[in-house]
Amino acid sequence: MTGNNSDAPAPHAVANNGSAYGRPPQHSNKRLTEVGPGMPMGELMRRYWQPIAVSTDLGDLPKKVQILGEELVLFRDRHGRPGLLYPRCMHRGTTLYYGKVEDRGIRCCYHGWLFDVEGNCLEQPCEPNGEWYPERCRQPWYPVEELYGFVFAYLGPPEKKPVLPRYDNLEDIGSDQILVSMIGGLGATGDLSLDVVPNSWLQMNDNVMDPFHVHVLHSTLTGPQFAAEFAIMPKVDFFQTDEGVCYSAVRELEDGQTVDRISSWLMPNIMSVPDIGLRAGYSSGVAWVVPVDDSHYVQAFAMKMPKDAPPLRITLGGKSWGDMTEEEHQRTPGDFEAQYGQGPISLHSEEHLATSDRGVIMQRKLLMQHMDIVAKGGDPMGVNFDPDKATVHIRSGNFFKKSAAAE
Ligand code: FES
Ligand SMILES: [Fe+2]
Repeated sequence: MTGNNSDAPAPHAVANNGSAYGRPPQHSNKRLTEVGPGMPMGELMRRYWQPIAVSTDLGDLPKKVQILGEELVLFRDRHGRPGLLYPRCMHRGTTLYYGKVEDRGIRCCYHGWLFDVEGNCLEQPCEPNGEWYPERCRQPWYPVEELYGFVFAYLGPPEKKPVLPRYDNLEDIGSDQILVSMIGGLGATGDLSLDVVPNSWLQMNDNVMDPFHVHVLHSTLTGPQFAAEFAIMPKVDFFQTDEGVCYSAVRELEDGQTVDRISSWLMPNIMSVPDIGLRAGYSSGVAWVVPVDDSHYVQAFAMKMPKDAPPLRITLGGKSWGDMTEEEHQRTPGDFEAQYGQGPISLHSEEHLATSDRGVIMQRKLLMQHMDIVAKGGDPMGVNFDPDKATVHIRSGNFFKKSAAAE
């Protein structure tokens, strides 16, 4: 890890009277940010299932998928099975994005080779006997499964494919509830105006174990963006779990209650943030920060909601992010401005991590440790091969009780 990264960081000495002249060379932490095949973080990410599309968005046309620096094509055959293939047709390389979806798979537009959802070549219509060593022909493919309204993909080594996790807070949908599943920039902007967020996945990932920005950015800097109670400075504790890191942010409220806001980050890019309106009880959602490449990401949200709830959309000063002017973004910055403001890929050599960054430090340390574990052939934190242990308990929520002083 670069920058000041111990649990109790000491301030840097100020060199050269603080002049901006002659600053040291700047760099990003590539181990944490580079997600392509063969990169340490790319290999760590590839050991977990990642959501790649909303199931209902997969119609009768193939869909481009960009994830972890790879370009892929996703389709659903007419039997309803989703398939995720490397897009360059193994015959002469045109893209299967222009392929024709059929009952048994996808047919390349150029010479008609037909591939099933696992890349098996089923037909080669231009060959004299209708086929040419099809048993030797396999279009590269990845396994997919559907859950919580998403198509999930596993892009890692086949022999290390874990069980697709379930989350207890997304189970047991009540008759008055629906499960909403979305992919895009909602977590950064609060609305649906960005399909892809143009900065590193790590910047959003850092944000989730950062309870202090909730107090400043979302509350006291320009006024309350979420619950008014976030203006109270919380007492914060960070703790490691079997899956990642949690924080507990305890606030003493004016009515004599305390509220303990527990938020979770699960390796390597999963989070469950409690209700931002401070609604009591367990968090109703789980989100994944899925890297598109080193400097772009999408966020996938699955959330239980009341059937009659209005669409998810955060407004500031009565306007959603996409409707605000640049001046309004400057006057009322939110998560997008703070995170995109760190640059496409933040310059970690220039960071000065402080005591309030302990959660971020814990996350990054775990990521670094588990990149090493994967490099040595081990299995990283949170992957599971036992279907009977597929369900993960989500601790996140807003938990109220009477404060000791009021009892
Ligand atoms: S390029 Fe796909 S069948 Fe020829
Ligand atoms: Fe935030």
